[in-house]
Amino acid sequence: MRVVFVCLGNICRSPAAEGIMRALAPDLTLDSAGTGGWHVGDPPYGPMQAAAEARGIDLSTLRARQFAVSDFDDFDLIIAMDRQNKADIARLRPSGNATPVRLMADMDVPDPYYSRDFEGALDIIEVAAMRLLADISRTRDL
Ligand code: 4NP
Repeated sequence: MRVVFVCLGNICRSPAAEGIMRALAPDLTLDSAGTGGWHVGDPPYGPMQAAAEARGIDLSTLRARQFAVSDFDDFDLIIAMDRQNKADIARLRPSGNATPVRLMADMDVPDPYYSRDFEGALDIIEVAAMRLLADISRTRDL
């Protein structure tokens, strides 16, 4: 199962989701990307790295990239952090492609780059990642 997490900048929410999910499910093929390209090549945002590190999650080796149309073929599941991300992804879907695009949580994961609430974002992402893993486990042998 190949899963890509997508947010706007790929320096806060989606790398955090990737890192948390890696810790929970090391055997999955995981990646993250941003719908925007401003931070391509950058490591995760410092305050998010620090907040994740305090929870035992190392994000330092991740580098931002922009979501690409090829991701629809390269992944089995695309997880958007908020409804805007989901809409931006949906606009890029190639005709005939049926890769599911789902929201990470029941709510938009608030963007901590603007809200500065890194703990709140991580709290939502941690619970959502555990739910996602349970969903994936139900549909395939891990
Ligand atoms: P993210 O947060 O989507 O959670 O990575 C953002 C980080 C940077 C920007 C936007 C969102 N930015 O516009 O620079």
